[in-house]
Amino acid sequence: MLTDEERTLLVVNCGQLLTLRGPRRPRAGQEMAALGLVRNGALLLRDRTVQLVGSVDRIRKAPESRRAVCLDARGKVVLPGFVDSHTHALFAATRVDDYVARIGGATYEQIAKRGGGIGASAKLVRVASEQALVDRLERMVKLFLEYGTTTAEVKSGYGLEIGQELKMLRAIRSVATRGTFDLVPTLLAHDVPARFRTKRAQYIELVKRELIPQVAREGLAEFFDVFCDRGYFSIAETKMMMNTAASAGLQLKLHAEQMTHSGATKMAVGLRSVSVDHLDQVTDDDIRSMRGTGTMATLLPGTVLHLGPNRYPPARQLIETGIPVALATNFNPGSSPTLSMQMILSLACSQMRMSPAETIVASTINGAYAVGRGGLVGSLEVGKQADLVIMDVSDYREIPYFFGMNHCETVVKKGAIVYRKG
Ligand code: NIG
Repeated sequence: MLTDEERTLLVVNCGQLLTLRGPRRPRAGQEMAALGLVRNGALLLRDRTVQLVGSVDRIRKAPESRRAVCLDARGKVVLPGFVDSHTHALFAATRVDDYVARIGGATYEQIAKRGGGIGASAKLVRVASEQALVDRLERMVKLFLEYGTTTAEVKSGYGLEIGQELKMLRAIRSVATRGTFDLVPTLLAHDVPARFRTKRAQYIELVKRELIPQVAREGLAEFFDVFCDRGYFSIAETKMMMNTAASAGLQLKLHAEQMTHSGATKMAVGLRSVSVDHLDQVTDDDIRSMRGTGTMATLLPGTVLHLGPNRYPPARQLIETGIPVALATNFNPGSSPTLSMQMILSLACSQMRMSPAETIVASTINGAYAVGRGGLVGSLEVGKQADLVIMDVSDYREIPYFFGMNHCETVVKKGAIVYRKG
């Protein structure tokens, strides 16, 4: 008896099939607009992977297509599932009070000082059981799929205390090992717990001597990330923790130049970070330092929208300098409460002047490279994991154009249909 994943699925009548085929590395410069578009395309999916991809006439004639189960895309747009490469999707509850306070004029930093912010999320995680966190993340995974995301990075960072950070990462691992969705775990040094406010150095030693080694021993995270900004971790503190993490075998990411400019980008590039994320306050000099290094610029425009007037990161300048760009939701309860990659695409087009094609590259194949999965997901090429979405539009440019709407109609994950709109 074949499992769903082992069954052969023939996807036909893809009005626009966006294969994202191309070089086996992050896409930069003009490559960022190359979608590998096939009109009236088809795919044959078997053993969780893409077996054939091309024009519907050719794929239908292949002998393997004869016994396949047929999925008719009815002229709609088919593309790889989104790879959301920066999220804090595991949290115990919303922070809607912070939202209302911000509408009233308070800033993110003022709210944090009054007991809201990351500290408030940490209090809620502390009283949640590991099982409650698992249940919560499973609900989020269902929602990710409904919006067309098939792989997501998830950070810890609302535990703060060592045991709580481990609890978060173990909850992420429980959901990841079910195999129905690809979760990429990141250990995040997000803030200093309240009881260490006057002894920061002690906390940093704990992270270096206890937390990072334990996470590496248990294989609980693939990446290490730090919130390096005014009022959170300094450049010197960040560098010490990142060096320890890299020696322990973790890959690096960094929250850089979000609220203020700190020079974190240059430091992260020097440490061979896979990505630098946010970059709202990035300078020309930082951008020059990224050129040719392969470090991905991960832009999170949902945060700028939600936190209120601020500058959007300079996407055009980054692309024109040849830096590979990824887009992600930064889904979290404080600064970006959305998991809709489609909404992020709309913001990137209308606020950052990325073209619709560039936003699709940034949210699929470049997202995949930003989480070390570029060889596995992010494009529909032979041998890659069969993760795709059918969007209920006839032209891919309508995905960002109709903003705030969910066009996702069908989701295929590892070759099996896992979501179909009502
Ligand atoms: O990426 N900047 C740091 N972390 C999140 C905010 C997290 C929160 O407010 O809960 C961000 O914006």
